[in-house]
Amino acid sequence: MFNPAFSSAAMFARKNIMPVTNPDKPGNSIHHPAAKAARIFCDSATRSDIEPLLRAGLINGITTNPTLLKKAGAKSWANAKEIMKDLCALLQPYPVSLELTELTEDKMVEQAQELAVLGTNSVIKVPAGGYPAVVPGGDPFTGFKVVRKLWESGVRTNVTLVFNTTQAFWAANAGATYISPFLGRVPDYINKNDNPAKAAGNSLYSIGDKGFVAGDSVANSEYVAAGGEIKDAGARLIFEIATVFANYQITTEILAASIRNPVQLTECMLAGADILTVPAPVLQTVANHPLSDEGMRGFLEDSKAFSG
Ligand code: E4P
Repeated sequence: MFNPAFSSAAMFARKNIMPVTNPDKPGNSIHHPAAKAARIFCDSATRSDIEPLLRAGLINGITTNPTLLKKAGAKSWANAKEIMKDLCALLQPYPVSLELTELTEDKMVEQAQELAVLGTNSVIKVPAGGYPAVVPGGDPFTGFKVVRKLWESGVRTNVTLVFNTTQAFWAANAGATYISPFLGRVPDYINKNDNPAKAAGNSLYSIGDKGFVAGDSVANSEYVAAGGEIKDAGARLIFEIATVFANYQITTEILAASIRNPVQLTECMLAGADILTVPAPVLQTVANHPLSDEGMRGFLEDSKAFSG
């Protein structure tokens, strides 16, 4: 697991220019102790997942995507827009990421304007790459071009499907408000495609061993597993982006995504993520621990000695 000692002076300096998570309350003499804490978003488009977490003051935003909208029951574009609009109203003033489904520059910009008016808190989610994979002859830089245009017209963006530091850096240069590295999908990929028992440094995923093979875009993300234990692979991606953003004092927020378990949640914070978007079932487990349960039972039992 990441060691907090990896944090650099530049990382701490960047925190000073980042937004306040928990502002002080006028008239309260106690300064909020976690003014610059990481924020937690819920990765869901389902109202019943989100509402209890919002009411409990545990989340500061949500992220949606086409898969999550399908899960929430969207049956048509009009229906999906109704769900997105309802979520924007529910979350106000916290940000709600709404993903584009169009695939070409002009249509994406047009659709972004359509989604941007669903709420003043909407953020347009733009995939970093993957265009040639889904559009014959597609322009690989479509996403970055769209982000720049949206930045120019004052629309906030969240660049999604980020799997390497260069994608994150380009997104920031294009004007992205947030970038979403999918840290959970990195170990998913490694576990599916590699022998997890192999030492990570000797892994197929070490760019140092393999070198650059023209046209092999997987090589871009391979280095994230090298030189660290496989379980750190995704967190290493966050750490590298956080270090680069700190080196250049970039204020695009690092929104760690595709979190699978509470351990990854901790790793993201050690690695320097600004925001973590977490599925509701994972958030529901983090307040529990078997030793908390055991401790509570003991305190309850002992309190009976003086509660009569
Ligand atoms: C991020 O914004 C995405 O919605 C999300 O975290 C994707 O996660 P998955 O890998 O569980 O689909």
